[in-house]
Amino acid sequence: MKPVLILGIESSCDDTAAAVSVNDKILANVVAGQKVHEAFGGVVPELASRAHQQHIIPVVDQALRQANVSKKDLDAIAFTNGPGLLGALMVGSSFAKSFGLALGIPIIEVNHMQAHVLAHFARLPEIESRTPSFPFLCLTVSGGHTQLIIVREHNDFELIGQTQDDAAGEAFDKIAKIIGLPYPGGPVIDQLAKMGNPAAFRFPHPQVPNLDFSFSGLKTSILYFLNKQQQADATFTESHLNDICASVQATIVAILLKKLKLASEQTGIKTIAIAGGVSANSGLRSALLEAATENGWDLFIPPFQFCTDNAAMIAVAGYYKFLKGDFASQKTAPFARFAGL
Ligand code: KG4
Ligand code: ZN
Repeated sequence: MKPVLILGIESSCDDTAAAVSVNDKILANVVAGQKVHEAFGGVVPELASRAHQQHIIPVVDQALRQANVSKKDLDAIAFTNGPGLLGALMVGSSFAKSFGLALGIPIIEVNHMQAHVLAHFARLPEIESRTPSFPFLCLTVSGGHTQLIIVREHNDFELIGQTQDDAAGEAFDKIAKIIGLPYPGGPVIDQLAKMGNPAAFRFPHPQVPNLDFSFSGLKTSILYFLNKQQQADATFTESHLNDICASVQATIVAILLKKLKLASEQTGIKTIAIAGGVSANSGLRSALLEAATENGWDLFIPPFQFCTDNAAMIAVAGYYKFLKGDFASQKTAPFARFAGL
């Protein structure tokens, strides 16, 4: 079969991204972040849509140039159709539909959560990479979702656990805000935690049945803890910043690892993968490596550029749909809420 050239488009939250792939190999992966949200301590949906509108064409142009691919050679355009911010998704999907129509090529809709998982199948040129064998377990931890998934095939997913309230990334970001750190707080906590003691403070673990998660209680207990300490010593947070961050990170990582181990025991699956923005966390990465040695796991951690939101994962997810002839109609519309895999 002739190699398949796909343009991937991602615009579900606050990153405008475009990638070009040939089969499962990524030729270009361009991401434009949005600094405009920093001042607000979180993503402002209207501002996100506007920034996507400004970035989408330059980002696609840059991806095609980097890949050295002419738009006329593309075989299909894959785009995120949800879940995410509706206005943000509209920009990417409208662009993909119009571009597909103009070029006379099919469009492929991609579920953002499936794409995070399929990021494991994105290959970089010149780099030999292993891909997980089926079935494998994937812990997807992002700003909007925390999910445990059995992956049986490129298009066969079973959700076996998820958060009942905040997502793991949301917990990092909201706790960072309580501490007074900038948005997004996950990477900032990660950096500060490197110089802190993870056992300095203990925070309670949620009591959630089965393979589900909860993070909103942790956020509240940290808020109470810091308020109490600040009353006794107004400089407490500032003077214990590294230890607080290290302890928060260690707690979130322990909660995630506990359920991942349980999922592996219950399903008997020892091929383990992580995905989503929080999989960039260094504490989570080292805890996973340790757990893999302890439990005989075959562990898959994606390269950093495929962890946080990107379009390489959309292009690869699109490639597997292309092989099945699974194309979208021009009438399709994006969806905001997660409605299954
Ligand atoms: O997957 P992603 O880029 O976007 C969503 O689909 O949500 O994930 C973003 C989330 C944010 O909550 C961010 O704080 C978190 O991933 N994140 C991290 C790290 N890098 C990104 N959290 C902890 N440690 C990191 N190094
Ligand atoms: Zn994401």
